[in-house]
Amino acid sequence: MSWKDSIIRQFGKLNPKFLASIEKGMKAIPGVSQKIDAEYAEVMVELENSAKPYKNKFTRFTEIPQTGRSHAEILLEMESMRALEESHWKDGFVSGAVYHGDQKHIDFLNQVYAINSQSNPLHADVWPSATKFEAEIVAMTADMLGGAGQDVCGTVTSGGTESIMLAMKTYRDWAREKKGITRPEMIVPITAHAAFDKASQYFNIKTIHIPVDENFRADVEAARKAVTPNTIVIVGSAPSFPHGAIDPISELAELALQNNIGFHVDACLGGFVLPWAEKLGYPVTPFDFRLPGVTSMSADTHKYGYAAKGTSVVLYRGNELRHFQYYTTTEWPGGLYFSPTFAGSRPGALSAACWAAMTSVGAQGYLSATKKILETAEFIKKGIREIPELHVLGDPLFVVAFASESINVYKVLDYMSHKSGV
Ligand SMILES: Cc1ncc(COP(=O)(O)O)c(C=O)c1O
Repeated sequence: MSWKDSIIRQFGKLNPKFLASIEKGMKAIPGVSQKIDAEYAEVMVELENSAKPYKNKFTRFTEIPQTGRSHAEILLEMESMRALEESHWKDGFVSGAVYHGDQKHIDFLNQVYAINSQSNPLHADVWPSATKFEAEIVAMTADMLGGAGQDVCGTVTSGGTESIMLAMKTYRDWAREKKGITRPEMIVPITAHAAFDKASQYFNIKTIHIPVDENFRADVEAARKAVTPNTIVIVGSAPSFPHGAIDPISELAELALQNNIGFHVDACLGGFVLPWAEKLGYPVTPFDFRLPGVTSMSADTHKYGYAAKGTSVVLYRGNELRHFQYYTTTEWPGGLYFSPTFAGSRPGALSAACWAAMTSVGAQGYLSATKKILETAEFIKKGIREIPELHVLGDPLFVVAFASESINVYKVLDYMSHKSGV
């Protein structure tokens, strides 16, 4: 057992800053520093081995080979990697990495990818199908998220992080032009995804963190107090990644509306579950464009939209707001250049596969998948509640987090991974 484990076992979970200060103090004791360093070295070797399982098993390329390798050799090597290390998720023990494991669905998406593998939405004149697919992905997602009959528009992005970062950059530029805000601030619950912090660092937007309540939902009063003349946007999650909690979206949306600031709902995880859960009769409070204060949303097609990895949708209330996301230059010697997202060239095949996933799964498919997810989540929550040492955090719908006051929960993780053979 490491020194940190034994402290956690005796005193329960400690504040990481406090743990760091204990570490500093302990390191000052003669002999202890070497022991801690040796422990770190051991952990690093373990990490290195698990992150690089192919070391010494396959040829390592550090320069382009003189003669190209045969396709058969390359394919065989990739198949062996898959067989050796990368098929564990198929046993059903991986959480949150693969969202649709059905082989027929995967084969279908691969076929779609193959047909469109050269497509690049940057060259809309060469691949007009990419424009059609993306426009329809956005339209279908907007319709699903309460945008029907409203002026909701958006773009396809490469994933949740890009959707979130684009939205934050959009608010920054909108607030600069419309309100003259040059020192922008965003109000973000501490449980919101790290992508918001990334946006804050990339785009120089100050993050004002607000706490969450005992059920891990954003504290609306704290948000109210945090609003200043520099606030450009408030953020809410539906649900959040750490605890699966849905923030009080309608209250936060109302607050934003009253103050004429943006309100972004991060529905990267829930965007393709909550609308169907609501239809199935689960208690889902309003979280989308049906609330007038919601001005943007992120929803990940590559999660519960069942598309291949590499797509998400960012939606805005109104073209005017979306306009601030775009990049255009007319001055470049290379010609007129326009791109709606961060990338220039993009994989049109992924948009085609996303469109194919959405139109092949269909509303009935999403409904029945959501039913199974919610029933499984109930089963998991019930199972956890039956174990006296564990408790479910908050009151989650389908993303379930649990903790323990009496045992080291990381050991539970270790044990479960070991049990599954991962
Ligand atoms: C709530 C939430 N927002 C954003 C993201 C970021 O998504 P991505 O990993 O696709 O960038 C995630 C990822 O799990 C998420 O759960």
